[in-house]
Amino acid sequence: MKLLRKIKNYRYFKLLSNIYLIIFIIFLFWILFFDSNSILVNLKLQKEINQLIERKIELKVCKREVIHEERKWRNLYNWIHRRIMGKIISISNQKGGVGKTTTSVSLAASLGVLEKKVLLIDADPQGNASSGIGISSNEINLSTYDVLLKKCEPKDAIIKTNSPNLDLIPANIDLVAIEIELIDMNERELIFSKVFKNISNNYDFLIIDCPPSLGLITLNALTASNSVIIPIQCEYYALEGLGKLLNTIKGVQSVHNQDLEIEGVLLTMYDSRLRLSNQVKDDVKKHFGGMVFNTIIPRNVSLGEAPSYGESIIVYNATSKGSKSYIKFAQEIINLNQIG
Ligand SMILES: Nc1ncnc2c1ncn2[C@@H]1O[C@H](COP(=O)(O)OP(=O)(O)OP(=O)(O)O)[C@@H](O)[C@H]1O
Ligand SMILES: [Mg+2]
Repeated sequence: MKLLRKIKNYRYFKLLSNIYLIIFIIFLFWILFFDSNSILVNLKLQKEINQLIERKIELKVCKREVIHEERKWRNLYNWIHRRIMGKIISISNQKGGVGKTTTSVSLAASLGVLEKKVLLIDADPQGNASSGIGISSNEINLSTYDVLLKKCEPKDAIIKTNSPNLDLIPANIDLVAIEIELIDMNERELIFSKVFKNISNNYDFLIIDCPPSLGLITLNALTASNSVIIPIQCEYYALEGLGKLLNTIKGVQSVHNQDLEIEGVLLTMYDSRLRLSNQVKDDVKKHFGGMVFNTIIPRNVSLGEAPSYGESIIVYNATSKGSKSYIKFAQEIINLNQIG
């Protein structure tokens, strides 16, 4: 009897152990199947992600190349044109204190250092570009005002500066009156264009420092220009009013000057330590994408000090961060306007 019970227990034990073994094997298979499946899924996903990343990069590169190609062909015409005539660039933003004058003076001086012949045209009655390059208001005999009213030839108003390859047509407070004096004149938006196109063949670049308004002077400057640089300060309200400026540019393109291009948007007074600066940088890049210049102008003490010494940043402190960034910017402008 005892033996019989023992055998029965042994059978139960065997059966149980077999069931456990089967469950274990099913579990093992399930684990293996699930795992391999998830590995496969992961690999597939990873592959897709990689492809996406690659395609995105490819698209970016392709887009850049397309932009470059487009620019190359458009530039071919402009380049041939500028073998004879210099390129006229307005620095404009109706918002005050964004770095228009600092950019005009520093870019003009930097282009000069890079062996380009440059004429800086002060078109702001504040005359900051003139004083910033060392020509004080009482030294000015003939100015942009006289040139525009045809009281003198443009070449007679040109002054040589102490910066290499850089000439200046200065301005002072007289220029305030120009908007009233020209009010009854026919084709009053075309005066800059008629006057400065005659002297543009003597220079590689003509840089116009615009006033902080969208009045007749800015309209004239844009009508005479091949392109416009829009400086944007990395500060609160940076994008405010830009719509108006872009509309004005569009208006000029459709009525007076269909060749006017936006050369680019320049971020100025950037401070990498400030979250606001970085936010503005991201916002501007999101809105304007490829139109934003690679060079970003940092906030720099020497850039703020240079005008009070009547010197461009290149002469005042050539090794400063401000000077180096404007040289880099000038090189970017030269590269953008080169063929090949
Ligand atoms: N990158 C910079 N770092 C430090 N200070 C700067 C920088 N750029 C400009 N500034 C200073 O900021 C002030 C305003 O600059 P700027 O005169 O160039 O602006 P603006 O747009 O021409 O002004 P406005 O609209 O009055 O003509 C000036 O005191 C200038 O020295
Ligand atoms: Mg200014």
